[in-house]
Amino acid sequence: MNNKWNKMIYRIWTPFYDKVFNSGVFLKARSKVFEGLSVTQGQHVLFVGVGTGADLEYFNTLGVKITAIDLSPSMLASARARVSTEMDIRFIEMDAQSLDFPEQTFDLVIASLILSVVPDAKRCMGEISRVTKGEGTVLIFDKFETVKGKLSISKKLLRPLVSLLGTDIGRSFQEIIQPFNDQLKIHQDTPVMFNGMYRKIILEKVK
Ligand SMILES: C[S@@+](CC[C@H](N)C(=O)[O-])C[C@H]1O[C@@H](n2cnc3c(N)ncnc32)[C@H](O)[C@@H]1O
Repeated sequence: MNNKWNKMIYRIWTPFYDKVFNSGVFLKARSKVFEGLSVTQGQHVLFVGVGTGADLEYFNTLGVKITAIDLSPSMLASARARVSTEMDIRFIEMDAQSLDFPEQTFDLVIASLILSVVPDAKRCMGEISRVTKGEGTVLIFDKFETVKGKLSISKKLLRPLVSLLGTDIGRSFQEIIQPFNDQLKIHQDTPVMFNGMYRKIILEKVK
């Protein structure tokens, strides 16, 4: 996976992305992911790799400041078209592996289907940790190698083909989070779809 390829492949995905990844089982999974999440007025939320903005539907809260970044201009345009003008939101073209924000900027960081997409997931995780405030929250919805580890033979065979579509089906969350264990504590790790392949993970940033 590399950024040049991602930019191209997600331009192709843009017009029909929501039909696949924001309908049916994905839509149900997303509502589980955002269930119980509370955001209070004045908080600053970051969406990393916002895509078409499917998750923005869960953030109609006025008084919440939102920053949404993505590498793909076409995805950003689609997300921009989706939100109401009353929302306090800015969209920025940016690489999730080098976030151009000061340390401890955000109260809540949403990372849906991005750690499996960026070329270097550990670098992205490090950036997410850096920009999250002490006692802030990171919410992850993504597919990883199952908690038991070990990819099935079929996934091993499919992995290179699927990566051409712009995502990796074989990443280990344990490996991604390991260098940041002292900064981010796992508060919740719940399977949400496809026998635990897709998980909802809530991390809390250490003070
Ligand atoms: C699978 S989509 C997920 C979109 C959205 N978060 C969702 O849940 O539907 C992956 C998104 O990551 C973006 N992306 C890929 N590489 C990126 C990078 N290096 N930095 C920021 N965004 C990236 C793509 O343009 C695409 O919008």
